Amino acid sequence: MKLWGGRFEKATEGMVDDFHSSISFDQRLARQDIEGSIAHATMLGEAGIITKEDSAKIVEGLRGILSDVLAGQIQFEVSAEDIHMNVETILISRIGEAGKRLHTGRSRNDQVALDARMYAKEAISQTREHIKDLLRVILDTAKAHTHSIMPGYTHLQKAQPITLGHHMMAWFQMLLRDAQRLEGCYERADVMPLGSGALAGTTYPLNRQRVADLLGFSAISENSLDGVADRDYMLEYLSAASISMMHLSRMCEEMILWATNEFGFIELDDGFSTGSSIMPQKKNPDVAELIRGKTGRVYGDLMGLLTAMKGLPLAYNKDMQEDKEAFFDAVDTWNKCLTVFTGMLKTTSFRLERMEAGAAGGFTNATDAADYLVKKGMPFREAHEVSGRMVLYCIHQGKAILDLSDDELAQFSALIGPDFRQAVSLHTCVENRALPGGPAPSAVETAISHAEAALAEI
Ligand code: ARG
Repeated sequence: MKLWGGRFEKATEGMVDDFHSSISFDQRLARQDIEGSIAHATMLGEAGIITKEDSAKIVEGLRGILSDVLAGQIQFEVSAEDIHMNVETILISRIGEAGKRLHTGRSRNDQVALDARMYAKEAISQTREHIKDLLRVILDTAKAHTHSIMPGYTHLQKAQPITLGHHMMAWFQMLLRDAQRLEGCYERADVMPLGSGALAGTTYPLNRQRVADLLGFSAISENSLDGVADRDYMLEYLSAASISMMHLSRMCEEMILWATNEFGFIELDDGFSTGSSIMPQKKNPDVAELIRGKTGRVYGDLMGLLTAMKGLPLAYNKDMQEDKEAFFDAVDTWNKCLTVFTGMLKTTSFRLERMEAGAAGGFTNATDAADYLVKKGMPFREAHEVSGRMVLYCIHQGKAILDLSDDELAQFSALIGPDFRQAVSLHTCVENRALPGGPAPSAVETAISHAEAALAEI
């Protein structure tokens, strides 16, 4: 017999039980569900809504169930539908009459809202730790490479020289914002909905604040309809996950490129690469590719829940049961991708000579050649033209700007003097870009010290 079986004359069809049951996935909320029920029962006893004895029996019974669940000793039943009714059914079977009083002043609608928020708060904290671990590795890599020159790109064409430290600090900023985005999400998840009832609150004099205090929530929800119907905080997490996965995917794409024979900027550790079943020479960046691939899956989780929610009238609708798999999947995927990326980056070796050689090709100093002429008095638009002609000449001659002789240089402008080569050397190009936010080692060192402070804040 179902806990809600009173008004029914016949049992649910087996296929319906199977279809609407959520226990296969919401058993993940078992601990939160039981802890939430312990707080509810404690408050019911304190407020005199049930007797102190019943409250104590319920709490003790729930504690027993919790330790059995954690020990893996409980087999949940599909016929009991979801985690909430499974726990309640087990409680009643263990302690009898008192167990039947647990659900006083509560609905599964506010119960599931509570459990999911408790879960989300933990998930957010976990993800934040994973991001922090990765930020630490990125920062250490940046610190070790403030002077390591590499080409910077636009359109995936060599553009201007930068440093590896500077590139790493760009990654740092991207992921720092991802961590910061979780702060707002946490704040909005940290609201206790119990007391919303099914939709219209309850007539029992519940002490909602007490439940919030017992469970470590910062606030109680302000509206019972919203309390049971809001899944925004999950959508925020999914949005934050999608944005962060997009970042990870771009970082992976760069690592995949850098690991190619054509770029040859990095060597992935054997522990983070895989081979081919047919081609003996292969060492593939599967880990990075899989993170890039899983990004689509997390976007799918976000789109799935946004779409499930968009037509729902207030308050609870069963459609909302679809929130959990999407949410859990995004939590698992994001956390796993962060962890494995951290391991991959930590063990990657950088081929600095290849990077610097890469920066020396492709006329990455052409802007600096123009800037040199500007400093000698030529208007920039004209200097751009002169430097462009110099590049074209070099292309025809198969030379780099630095290979040009004094006579060759003199053809382009009388303003070019003996200090030209020094002015367009890779090191000067990088060192002179010392504005805040720039790639010069001095600027990157400042960025690193700001980053240390930001990291300590999250
Ligand atoms: N398993 C349900 C869910 O995940 C719990 C709430 C069910 N409430 C209801 N009235 N059917 O959303």
